[in-house]
Amino acid sequence: MPQLSPRLDAERRFHDGQAADRAHTLTAADALRFADGDYLDHETWIRPAFAELGPLTGKCILDYGCGHGMAAVVLARAGATVTAFDLSPGYVAEAQARADANGVSVECVVAAGEALPFADASFDAVWGNAILHHLDLPRAARELRRILKPGGVAVFAEPWGGNALLEFARRYLPYPGKSRTADEQPLTRRDLAPLREVFPALTWTGHQLFGMARRVVPAGLAKPLTTLDGAVLPVVPILRNLCRYVVVVLPRA
Ligand SMILES: C[S@@+](CC[C@H](N)C(=O)[O-])C[C@H]1O[C@@H](n2cnc3c(N)ncnc32)[C@H](O)[C@@H]1O
Repeated sequence: MPQLSPRLDAERRFHDGQAADRAHTLTAADALRFADGDYLDHETWIRPAFAELGPLTGKCILDYGCGHGMAAVVLARAGATVTAFDLSPGYVAEAQARADANGVSVECVVAAGEALPFADASFDAVWGNAILHHLDLPRAARELRRILKPGGVAVFAEPWGGNALLEFARRYLPYPGKSRTADEQPLTRRDLAPLREVFPALTWTGHQLFGMARRVVPAGLAKPLTTLDGAVLPVVPILRNLCRYVVVVLPRA
C-alpha cells in the first residue's frame, strides 16, 4: 500500500491495536467458528440491511472495511464470491483466519477505502458496517462507483449523529465497548451530500429509535421496542433522523 496520510495512519494504528488485543482469544479454530445468526442478529439493523443486497448466490461481493470478517463469511456461505478488505493488517489477518476456520474461501486484502486496488466494475454488490463514518467520503464515493458494476448496489449500516441526546451520551457517558478513533464521527445529513452526488438514487432508513433503550431496560423489553420501531418508523420516516443507526443504500446506475 502507498504511504498513508496521517489520518489513515492513525486509523490503521488504532484498529491494529484493537485486533492485537483480541488476537490471543482467537487462536483456536473453535473461537473463530460461528453461525450466521450470531452475525445477522447481533444488531437489529443487520438482517434488514443484508436483505438490501438482494440474492447473493453467484454474486461478486466486497466486504468493505471488513474488520473481523464475519460478514464476509456469511456472504460466502450464502454462495457469493467474496473479497474483503480493511486498512488494518491485524484485522485482515483475523478475517482470513475466520474464513479459513469456517471453511469458506474469501480473498482478504489490506487497502484503504479511498484508493481501492480493484478493477473497474468488478463487484455486483458492496457490504459495509460501521465504516463510511471513518472515511474521506467524496473520495470513497468515487471509488465505490468505479468498482461497482452498472446496476450494482452498495449497502452500508452506519451510526447516525442526528439525535442530540444520543450524541451527548456517545460523547460523555461511559458504556461497554465504547472506543472510537479521533477522526470518526457518526454520519449526518451533511455526509449524505457527497454520497448523493455520486449515487443520486441514494436512500436511507433509520433503525433503533425506541429500540436504542434496549441497552438500559430489562432484556424482556428489547423485542417489543424493536416491534414498535418496525411499526412507527416506516409510517413517520422523519423520525429516522433521531435513530441510533441508519442503513444507506447506494444503487449504481
Ligand atoms: C468499527 S470497525 C467496523 C468493522 C466491521 N465492518 C464490523 O462490522 O465490525 C471500522 C473498520 O474500518 C476500518 N477502517 C478505518 N478506516 C478505513 C479506511 N480508510 N479504509 C479501509 N478501512 C478502514 C478499520 O480498520 C476497522 O476495521
